[in-house]
Amino acid sequence: MNITVIGAGYVGLISAAGFAETGHRVICVDDDLRKIEVLNAGGMPFYEPGLEGLVQRNRAAKRLEFISRIEDAVAQCPVIFICVGTPPLENGEADLSSVELVARRISQCARGYHLVIEKSTVPVQTGRRLQKHFSIYRNNPQFHFDVASNPEFLREGSGVEDFFHPDRIVVGVDSEKAAALLEEIYRPVLEQNFVCPVHQGCEKRSRVPFVVTDINSAELIKHASNSFLAMKISFINMVADLCEAVGANAAQVAEAVGMDKRIGSSFLRPGIGFGGSCFPKDIQAFVRVGQGAGCDFALLQGVERINQRRIDQFVDKLKNELWVVRGKRIGVWGLAFKPRTDDVRSSPALAIIRRLLTEGALVRAYDPQAMEKAKAEIPEIEYCADAYEAARGVEAILALTEWEEFLQLDLLRVRQVMTRPLILDGRNMFSRDTVTAMGFEYLDIGSGAHVQKLLLGAR
Ligand SMILES: NC(=O)c1ccc[n+]([C@@H]2O[C@H](COP(=O)([O-])OP(=O)(O)OC[C@H]3O[C@@H](n4cnc5c(N)ncnc54)[C@H](O)[C@@H]3O)[C@@H](O)[C@H]2O)c1
Repeated sequence: MNITVIGAGYVGLISAAGFAETGHRVICVDDDLRKIEVLNAGGMPFYEPGLEGLVQRNRAAKRLEFISRIEDAVAQCPVIFICVGTPPLENGEADLSSVELVARRISQCARGYHLVIEKSTVPVQTGRRLQKHFSIYRNNPQFHFDVASNPEFLREGSGVEDFFHPDRIVVGVDSEKAAALLEEIYRPVLEQNFVCPVHQGCEKRSRVPFVVTDINSAELIKHASNSFLAMKISFINMVADLCEAVGANAAQVAEAVGMDKRIGSSFLRPGIGFGGSCFPKDIQAFVRVGQGAGCDFALLQGVERINQRRIDQFVDKLKNELWVVRGKRIGVWGLAFKPRTDDVRSSPALAIIRRLLTEGALVRAYDPQAMEKAKAEIPEIEYCADAYEAARGVEAILALTEWEEFLQLDLLRVRQVMTRPLILDGRNMFSRDTVTAMGFEYLDIGSGAHVQKLLLGAR
């Protein structure tokens, strides 16, 4: 099938390459000319494991091309996926101006039948608005359309794997034709009937559930899913705060709570909270939608509030250790909002660095992939060639992104170059026993060990 994907960002580029790999002919459009130039020169606009090879292979096979004019793509493709950004407005609502702009361009140039699919995360009833928009603004009366919602659940860092092995594919439609087209587009993925570009030898795979709903429900499924995951994170962080206060161990609590199959262990690791381009903005947008509909969304406002406080609490923990932060060197390991990506959008690491800078600290930082993007956001800190350099002469290391690389470090070497061997582990990635045995002072999130010691001392 001929498919247009509009937006060559994390979602658009991964989807475009994935559809091409499964046999479709894909034209990927972006209005960022520099991005298109980079892609046409064989480069990548961002880091995502496994994506570069996939893009190159499908470009070479002429199943994937990159252009900047929507009109040229729409003329050749009956199917159009909208994958542009939907960032938050100041009031928390999703900014749909890019979606609207794309819709306007499609209205101006489309003729014949098109299935227009929103893959961007949008508030419920956006599909309805798109339908109305096309009906009012179509230039050509021969433009017939279906609008569908196909929310994307991929996780940056494992986006390629998630494209090929999703937990489910959700489509919101209001015509059988749209459902049938989407099923056809996704058939290789649904039947797991492709040579897997991610794993070797994963032949026997079970069919992926294909969930067909109305358009409003599909839109809502995405916001509800992200909000639930964020709720788990804030929940365990709330419990971690209590553990620290009363002398319990949040890691042990989380492990045992997660063993309950009804709860599950994922997203139950205490830390500095969630960031990235999705959870914070999607929760805000969902709260606005809920409030707009007159529903009580205080639960999610609590989730947001707990998450926002993580940054201050973590910096306070550091201040408590260092007494005065001004003029002190602090090392930071990790800038990306999570490992295996270079994305620093709403990264808790950057929020912490900004707070440290206002306190007058001197920050040295290292991240395996995200330094370029972080430099564009915070140019005034020192970016180091590796984790050892970031540790040189510092009074504390803050571990802020759980990159595998940090777990492979020679910690004795790290200790030798630090002025004070203090690690604040914002992701609970190190083992307390291991690092303290090496002579580090170690603070994680949610360990009430210090309170336990006080209690024992009081006996
Ligand atoms: N990043 C994720 O992990 C993820 C996961 C699921 C859903 N989503 C959702 O998918 C959407 C896209 O997210 P993303 O992370 O890929 O964003 P992104 O910012 O990485 O990419 C968006 C792309 O759209 C392009 N664009 C914007 N306006 C355009 C226009 N008028 N014409 C052509 N191109 C245009 C931008 O230049 C950019 O390259 C968002 O709604 C997001 O919430 C993201």
